[in-house]
Amino acid sequence: MEPTTTRDAWQQAYARVESGLRAGGVDVIATAASLEELEGRRVEFLGRSSALTLLLKDLKNLGLDDRRELGPQAQALKAAVEQKFALRHAELENAADGAALQKDAVDLTLPSLRPPRGRLHPLTTTLSAIADIFQRMGYSWAEGPFAEDERHNFSALNIPDDHPARDSHDTFYLTGLPLLLRTHTSTVQIRAMEAQQPPIRIVCPGRVFRHEQIDATHSAVFHQVEGLVVDQNVGFADLKGHLQTFLESLLGKDTKTRFRPSYFPFTEPSTEVDAKCFFCSGAGCPSCKHTGWIELLGAGVVNPKVLSNVGWDPEKWSGFAFGIGVERVAMLLHGVPDIRDFYINDLRFLRQFDEDIA
Ligand code: PHE
Repeated sequence: MEPTTTRDAWQQAYARVESGLRAGGVDVIATAASLEELEGRRVEFLGRSSALTLLLKDLKNLGLDDRRELGPQAQALKAAVEQKFALRHAELENAADGAALQKDAVDLTLPSLRPPRGRLHPLTTTLSAIADIFQRMGYSWAEGPFAEDERHNFSALNIPDDHPARDSHDTFYLTGLPLLLRTHTSTVQIRAMEAQQPPIRIVCPGRVFRHEQIDATHSAVFHQVEGLVVDQNVGFADLKGHLQTFLESLLGKDTKTRFRPSYFPFTEPSTEVDAKCFFCSGAGCPSCKHTGWIELLGAGVVNPKVLSNVGWDPEKWSGFAFGIGVERVAMLLHGVPDIRDFYINDLRFLRQFDEDIA
């Protein structure tokens, strides 16, 4: 093939391209801000219609000797430009990778989200706290049914048919059955004594039912923890000692309590224990019905008639019993002014007791 380009013409063209690149053209490669921009530059400097490519193509129009001599020089120029592209390309790709990593980065030191979980109801934790103290004092655990007969709820506890005490227990009777919903956990005293021989030392936690006017301190369904101790030579002093130990352990030494004479057909003598009203500190308010005190429990020395009723010899055995209102204790412990808050399942109320879960 005859040469169509002269050596001179080609060399002049080469010098133009080279000085063009040197005069700043190449620098824009190194400063391309993005891969897209860099690709634009690649097309401009190395693309099919770029001056450099055309120059290389034109090599074939030179004579063989000229081509051998000038070709490598042009190839070296091309390689130098390509190297600059490769360099910038790697830089930009690294930066893009880094940015992507940054964007999707997971901070493993962040605290994790807490999965939603159940929590114990404040009445459950209060009931456990009460039962735990008595279990540490050597009491064992006993339970009885909600639906009871008249004997376990009343007559065996020395509350005969016509006794006015029955009126104070507004009772739910089950229609068509000789049963009622127990009005107190004292039923379990009778059941436990029927089932075993003395001595006995038990706590009986559970739900009780009264057809009562509902207000800030009364509910138709509530909870009690019954206690019963029967042994030889057990009397009121033992009752007081046990209850004082219990109250101090549950409420702390600083909570003021008082023992007040009272009456229950199944205990003699009887007492009720109040705590100083925790809302008004004793000044009188709706929560304590303006008395300054809130009743926590009823108690007394087991009436000998109750022992006889279950066939235990009252000459040989004696004991004491108590019934603690779980809701009252929970109100006292947590400063809850209205008993109804425990039953309406308002999560805003219930979530306050998170920290009670061990
Ligand atoms: N059962 C009584 C009540 O519910 C409480 C009580 C229990 C009193 C044991 C004395 C002894 O009111």
